[in-house]
Amino acid sequence: MPAPDSSSIAPATRDPQGPPADGDGVAFAPPLATQAIGVFDSGVGGLTVARAVLARLPGERLVYLGDTARVPYGMRSAQTVLRYSRNAARFLLHNTVKLVLIACNTASAAALDELRAELPVGVLGAVEPGAAAAAAATHSAVVGVIGTLATVRSGAYERALLAQNPALKVHTAACPLLVPLIEEGWTAEHDPVSELVVRRYLTELRQRAPALDTLVLGCTHYPLLAPLLQRVAGELWGHPIALVDSAQAMAEAAAAELARRQLLSPDPLP
Ligand code: DGL
Repeated sequence: MPAPDSSSIAPATRDPQGPPADGDGVAFAPPLATQAIGVFDSGVGGLTVARAVLARLPGERLVYLGDTARVPYGMRSAQTVLRYSRNAARFLLHNTVKLVLIACNTASAAALDELRAELPVGVLGAVEPGAAAAAAATHSAVVGVIGTLATVRSGAYERALLAQNPALKVHTAACPLLVPLIEEGWTAEHDPVSELVVRRYLTELRQRAPALDTLVLGCTHYPLLAPLLQRVAGELWGHPIALVDSAQAMAEAAAAELARRQLLSPDPLP
């Protein structure tokens, strides 16, 4: 998948390491419409969200932080992911962003409530938009969610999906080997190693959820494997499975949030 047009993404200029956004004595001015949107992820996966945001809001600038020094987040404790997320948010605020998008399901599950309470700008996570899109897509009311260990352990998707529709049956599966494969760039539809791993995870899910018709890619890295996931899922279930990810829905939510706060960029980019 091509990265978003780099001319629209401001270079990251500050050290993401540092004390949490709260309690460090730094006062941030109220956000301005001319400022950029901040997006962070544990690595390259959030570029799928950045691309969707730039497509939906072409007049906006983005500051993107991919914490590739500490990826993967998905095998770490909730407290550690919360600390990393606070570091990332602080970095984005120092780069004067007007909205923070947590383009990482693991960080959204561990830190959304805290960052919403602590930051002086709006904060959107990845879980609710993905759950809403999945609830709208399913016909069988049986939904699968694949994600990192931390996301699955948090129960965030079950809660968000059942809040959308209490009648849904939700089956989750942690797929911890997928992020390292994707960060390695082994994302081709016919990559033999990635296919073996995907087939093994989805076969186990197929056994538990034969009536599943919708699969949430509950990790922003996974859309980079979408052609492979789509093909293998179709083979295992014997019919096309709807793959849902949060990128599009997050872009829509960002547009709505900026409009609500009267922070949409006033000028088209040159
Ligand atoms: N991209 C992140 C997510 O959406 C997780 C990758 C990781 O384990 O760091 O959950």
